[in-house]
Amino acid sequence: MFSVRVVSVINYKGGVGKTTLTANVGAELAFRGKKVLLIDLDPQASLTFSLVRPEYWQQNLEAEKTIKKWYESFDSSSPLSLSSLMTRAPHIKDYPNGGVLRFIPSHLGLINVDLELATELGGASLKQSKINYLRVHRRLAEGLKEEALSEFDVILIDCPPNFNVVTKNAIVASDSVLIPAKADYLSTLGIDHLQRSLRELVADYNEYAQLESGEDNAEFIDPQTLGVVFTMIQFYGGQPIAALRPYIRQIAALGVPVFDSLLREAKTLFAGSPSGGLPLVLRAGKTPTEKQLVKELEDLVSEFLLKLGK
Ligand SMILES: Nc1ncnc2c1ncn2[C@@H]1O[C@H](COP(=O)(O)OP(=O)(O)O)[C@@H](O)[C@H]1O
Ligand SMILES: [Mg+2]
Repeated sequence: MFSVRVVSVINYKGGVGKTTLTANVGAELAFRGKKVLLIDLDPQASLTFSLVRPEYWQQNLEAEKTIKKWYESFDSSSPLSLSSLMTRAPHIKDYPNGGVLRFIPSHLGLINVDLELATELGGASLKQSKINYLRVHRRLAEGLKEEALSEFDVILIDCPPNFNVVTKNAIVASDSVLIPAKADYLSTLGIDHLQRSLRELVADYNEYAQLESGEDNAEFIDPQTLGVVFTMIQFYGGQPIAALRPYIRQIAALGVPVFDSLLREAKTLFAGSPSGGLPLVLRAGKTPTEKQLVKELEDLVSEFLLKLGK
């Protein structure tokens, strides 16, 4: 048996394909027989609304079933379990091969949770502030230890486009991070910056964890960068257009792993994608570009499984 692998999909930048990647990788993994849980940690709730319609969310999920509710219940007399929030998109059935896709919905009010968590940091003494740091940053990691979640093969977390406390919660809870990026100059800088922020978070967290429990008993974190996935790539004659290649090489030169699979840009397709629909990878592409993108997503998932050792 493999243990659950928790993977956060992160990038400071919005609009780089985090949510699209999370939904499609999750859907394809479930199609291949994996038990998959997606967690929408972005207050914009794009992942949630890619899986269910806004009316469905309002009627069935908004009040009681979002990750916001889970965070808010933490200090209450009856804290919620993450498994109690698990939702199935009505039109995505479980597969006969055992494949399952569940998700935990988000809520616009998650913005306030981020601010609230930030106010719980700090403290009267340096010691107290280190204790608070750990308590706040490991909240999601603790929640994910729930027995009912051990049936999942993969938990994918769709993060907001920032490096705030909620995103750090996801990273602390993760075995690996996946970084979707566009191939352009700013993205190259952004990934370098993101790597440094990751190292800083891990160093701080582990330092405090060691102070708390000692070298032998501390639960250190060590999230690995699974790789950068280049998205929205323009192709010409079967190759990424020449102008993009230097950026792809630059990321590799930073020592950051890069997925071989590239995802091409298919503007028309995504522009028309309705909310509450099927992730692209579960639909047969209509145009040649769509078909190629589906194939690329499938290849990406094979590479993803290989890198996870699954
Ligand atoms: N390969 C692609 N080709 C064209 N458009 C894409 C592609 N992937 C995602 N998009 C579109 O780009 C926008 C941003 O994607 P999204 O996954 O929401 O990014 P993020 O989560 O990083 O903000 C969305 O409208 C999405 O439909
Ligand atoms: Mg998103």
